[in-house]
Amino acid sequence: MLLKDAPSGYGWLSIGLHWLNAVAVVMLWFIGNKMTGSGVTETEAVELVRVHTSVAVTVYALIWTRILWRFYSGHPQGLPDQGRMSFLIARTVHYTLLVTISVMLISGPLQVWFAGDAIGFYSVGNIPSPFAANERLHELLETAHRQGGNVLFVVALVHMSAAARQIVFGRGETAKRMTAPTGH
Ligand code: HEM
Ligand code: HEM
Repeated sequence: MLLKDAPSGYGWLSIGLHWLNAVAVVMLWFIGNKMTGSGVTETEAVELVRVHTSVAVTVYALIWTRILWRFYSGHPQGLPDQGRMSFLIARTVHYTLLVTISVMLISGPLQVWFAGDAIGFYSVGNIPSPFAANERLHELLETAHRQGGNVLFVVALVHMSAAARQIVFGRGETAKRMTAPTGH
């Protein structure tokens, strides 16, 4: 089945989770950025926040599955032609992405709840806050979510550029690891 990872490659589970998560996280980032940007009316912003939280709740368990799976399964070793330093940098970038996404998943819902609001979920309804409102915590979590979004943008850009560089200028062996199982 080649479902699980091999010592030096990914299995279908990691590959599937990687691409589903890449789409979900990039989408959440764009909606989040759009709704808090200038040129959006108050009504549009309220609607977009609802879209953002609805999509986020839908993919919430999927994203956590991916993060926990990587920490449980470990990170495959690099390929012989990758070089030790390049492998260490790539692995650090990957774990930074996972930790930053965790911060987004924790700070997102908590910032809403500590503002005393409920989390909007499509037209189905709202997920009420289990906590009492706390302005100080709300502000702290809002800042964490905003700064986390900025860090995510930079690190994801580095990650995607490195993958693109590998495909265009290198032999693309490492990049190929995310298209089909290897090393089994
Ligand atoms: C990986 C997951 C997520 C990503 C990448 C993401 C991304 C973003 C970004 C880029 C912003 C704009 C920040 C700013 O410039 O002020 C934002 C705002 C926001 N996010 Fe998320 N988010 C994620 C998860 C969540 C979750 C799970 C929730 C709640 C269920 C949530 C609720 C919100 C809310 C309410 C805002 C608006 C905050 C404000 O009005 O300043 N987010 N998000
Ligand atoms: C066009 C976009 C993307 C490409 C071409 C790409 C490519 C790759 C490749 C080739 C690997 C394996 C590298 C290795 O093991 O050395 C990888 C791993 C990884 N990528 Fe991406 N990626 C993309 C988008 C993203 C995005 C948007 C995120 C998260 C925001 C992300 C997060 C990760 C993480 C955390 C890993 C480590 C393995 C795992 O846990 O899945 N990638 N990516």
